[in-house]
Amino acid sequence: MKRRSVKQTDSSSGVSEAQRSDRAQRKEGTSSGWWLKRGLLAAFVIFILLPFSLRTLPELIQHLVYTHRVRVPFFIDLGRPADLSLNHTINMYLTSEEGISLGVWHTVPESQWKEAQGKDLAWYQNALNDGSPVFIYLHGNTGTRAATHRVGVAKVLSALGYHVLVPDYRGFGDSTGEPTEAGLTTDALYLYNWVKARSGNSLVVIWGHSLGTGVATNTAVKLVEQGVVCDGVILEGAFNSARQKIPVNPFIWYYWKLPGTGYLFPEPWADNKVVFPTEENLKKMKSPILFLHSEDDHLVPIQIAQQMYEVAVSAQNAERVKLVSFDGSLGYLHNGLYRDAHLPDIIKKFVLSL
Ligand SMILES: *[C@@H]1O[C@H](CO)[C@@H](O)[C@H](O)[C@H]1NC(C)=O
Repeated sequence: MKRRSVKQTDSSSGVSEAQRSDRAQRKEGTSSGWWLKRGLLAAFVIFILLPFSLRTLPELIQHLVYTHRVRVPFFIDLGRPADLSLNHTINMYLTSEEGISLGVWHTVPESQWKEAQGKDLAWYQNALNDGSPVFIYLHGNTGTRAATHRVGVAKVLSALGYHVLVPDYRGFGDSTGEPTEAGLTTDALYLYNWVKARSGNSLVVIWGHSLGTGVATNTAVKLVEQGVVCDGVILEGAFNSARQKIPVNPFIWYYWKLPGTGYLFPEPWADNKVVFPTEENLKKMKSPILFLHSEDDHLVPIQIAQQMYEVAVSAQNAERVKLVSFDGSLGYLHNGLYRDAHLPDIIKKFVLSL
């Protein structure tokens, strides 16, 4: 009995398999037509509609550079960082300028996680004054402070016993306003001063990643102009200047690589709206600097980091400026070096040198 029933299923599945492969073949035929249509549509958008729109709609440029409206990860409640296992983190809103509200996460050192349960803003603000170093993490374009690699950095720093403040700049995440280079710098500067007013004599380090490295060096230079030297600056995946066609956005990177697009597209910084003059900033900065860069970074080649390291060393010296690169075989690309097992030691060493 049993055997027979097995046989039956065998034969019936044999028939349906044949039908399935038949259907699959037919489907393949239609799907290549479908891809052709999609391809033509994409080409139309990239080569005709987009250049046309860029010439007519300056705000589109802003969107391409910052892609701030892409709020990845989706379905995350920015008011509940504990959902991302940041259970010693508070969500708060700071007004960096009239009408600009910034969503900010403050994570206390991991050793305080039990104590932090159920605590309010006042407790967190008070904790800033506990003598532990404080990091301000300035993230790159696209997405919010909840992105995996950003939460990853916050966890590394918190485990080391540091405070971490991660803002979403204006226009990003649940922050209000629209992003501009000056606006992002104002937001970072505001947060720095806010932290300094509450952190006593603790070290305050600015960590910029990707586009955030441009914001970080802009901020450090603004501080120097006010006679203030930030205790330390970490530049992860740094680019030298938006002018030199270094991508702050994967989309921009790819359209430069397509022939003819340079002619069709006006450069986003043509009217000096987006400059991020990191290289020039490095010449003016007086803070100890640590560059972190993956050799396989696909958005900013490692050579750029090496060039900028040289610029910073000539402006200061090799004692105050360091470059740590990560082997390409590790596969960190532009965002992933928070996963490196040696990173905590590298950061600790930098902090101890300050
Ligand atoms: C809270 O976070 C800490 C540090 O990441 C972790 O060790 C702990 O297990 C977490 N506690 C709970 C209840 O999730």
